[in-house]
Amino acid sequence: MKKIKSICCIGAGYVGGPTMAVIAQQCPEIKVIVVDINADRIAQWQTDNLPIYEPGLLEVVKEARGRNLFFSTDIENAIRDSEMIFMSVNTPTKTYGLGKGRAADLKFVELSARKIAEVSTSDKIVVEKSTLPVRTAESIKTILKEHTNGVKFQVLSNPEFLAEGTAVQDLQKPDRVLIGGDQTPEGLQAIEALTDIYAHWIPREQIIQTRLWSSELSKLTANAFLAQRISSINSLTALCEATGADVDEVAYAIGTDSRIGSKFLKASVGFGGSCFQKDILNLVYLCEYFGLPEVAAYWEQVIIMNDYQKKRFATNIIHTLFNTVSGKKIALLGWAFKKDTNDTRESAAIYVADDLLSDLAQVGVYDPQVSADKMYADLNYLQTRPAKENEQMLEVHSNAYDACKDAHAIAIITEWDEFKTLDWQRIFDQMKKPAFLFDGRNILNHSHLREVGFIVKAIGKGAE
Ligand code: NAD
Ligand code: UGA
Repeated sequence: MKKIKSICCIGAGYVGGPTMAVIAQQCPEIKVIVVDINADRIAQWQTDNLPIYEPGLLEVVKEARGRNLFFSTDIENAIRDSEMIFMSVNTPTKTYGLGKGRAADLKFVELSARKIAEVSTSDKIVVEKSTLPVRTAESIKTILKEHTNGVKFQVLSNPEFLAEGTAVQDLQKPDRVLIGGDQTPEGLQAIEALTDIYAHWIPREQIIQTRLWSSELSKLTANAFLAQRISSINSLTALCEATGADVDEVAYAIGTDSRIGSKFLKASVGFGGSCFQKDILNLVYLCEYFGLPEVAAYWEQVIIMNDYQKKRFATNIIHTLFNTVSGKKIALLGWAFKKDTNDTRESAAIYVADDLLSDLAQVGVYDPQVSADKMYADLNYLQTRPAKENEQMLEVHSNAYDACKDAHAIAIITEWDEFKTLDWQRIFDQMKKPAFLFDGRNILNHSHLREVGFIVKAIGKGAE
């Protein structure tokens, strides 16, 4: 079997960058070039100030960059010179036309496939790394066939399962790698060529080989199952608060059943991130497309429950603060959708802040990794009020103490570790009284906070 010596990855984002950095680190004999239409992003990958924040990533990049890992905007030459091309472009939810608000927007995938077809002068293995609806490979094959001059293409599906914040360790020690391909001799050879790359550092028994459609569908459904667990536990938070049960105790009791397992049962203000919502909406759209409304409705409920949870959290703050937060300062600790990332896509913080601003609160925010520009851009995208009002009503601070000073209430939105070790007495002393604390992640020591004087409202915990 022919060993791959050169790889190109189209898309230098949260997946393309870290994935290729780890492949380059683990396979020093393979030349890996990551390309993007976003010149700023490419320029940043060439510095020590990487465009994405991921623990451990800079070390991996530095080990391989300039040796066998390169970043470039010269997409055409990178494609032409590579034997294997990963497509790792974004696949957001469509915001227009047919399937608006549900289907995945595949225009970036299609453009990449057209570019590959247009410039290739030798045979290529094209790998779907982006998360795609089942049977997308068929469309990619159609595009590639239309434009070839005797060049042969094999299309593989190799979805990525990394989670942000733990991307490097997820890539270095994944639970499994999934590779789907055509069950023809050429398809099987392509599967083996990609397996061979991963086998540099991952035991072969953890590399799952399937048909193309099974691989594409497994990625969407893996995310749907993960998100479903969060919505399931979050659905119980309202019931726990009403009955006096403690959701963390319930989660522990449920999770110790080995058939259920303990992971992904942490109640929260609602899941965020670029993928859970978009992938489930995409699954719902596919089910509707194939005439399966009951299946579509089943999965859509996961999203409905998540929207309810975010809204419920904001409403609870307003109700507790005597039914209005008008003119009151509310401090939000955390804006990223989870700890250890600077990614804010679909973060619960955006929706909670928006609801509080609509009730005329003054919002103070602190997040260790998210810039003020990004926060305002997130809010402005919702178009609830003019950008100028967002700037007047929401202030971004460079530390938690300033964000909480003179606040009537604090809401923990992201589970950053540094929030656990803040001087809560100092924070309490500088707040308006009564001082409320809403823990949307249940990461703090609530008994200690109550001793300090806070009125604590924790997600999924009723009155004691
Ligand atoms: P991203 O937006 O961070 O990165 C995508 C990059 O592709 C952007 O930099 C964009 O400029 C570039 N791009 C778009 N069209 C291009 C083109 N025609 N030519 C060259 N570059 C182009 O997105 P991401 O978070 O890396 O996600 C990429 C895919 O991986 C999505 O399908 C997503 O669902 C999937 N995924 C994401 C994660 C995650 O944690 N973010 C995990 C697993 C899978
Ligand atoms: C998720 C999946 O975990 C990855 O396997 C997948 O590759 C990725 O989506 C993707 O396809 O994009 P990610 O969104 O980066 O990864 O992060 P998660 O750790 O899954 O967290 C998602 C959201 O759920 C966060 O807002 C997190 O705070 C929340 N969450 C997670 C909970 O509220 N409770 C939990 O128990 C776990």
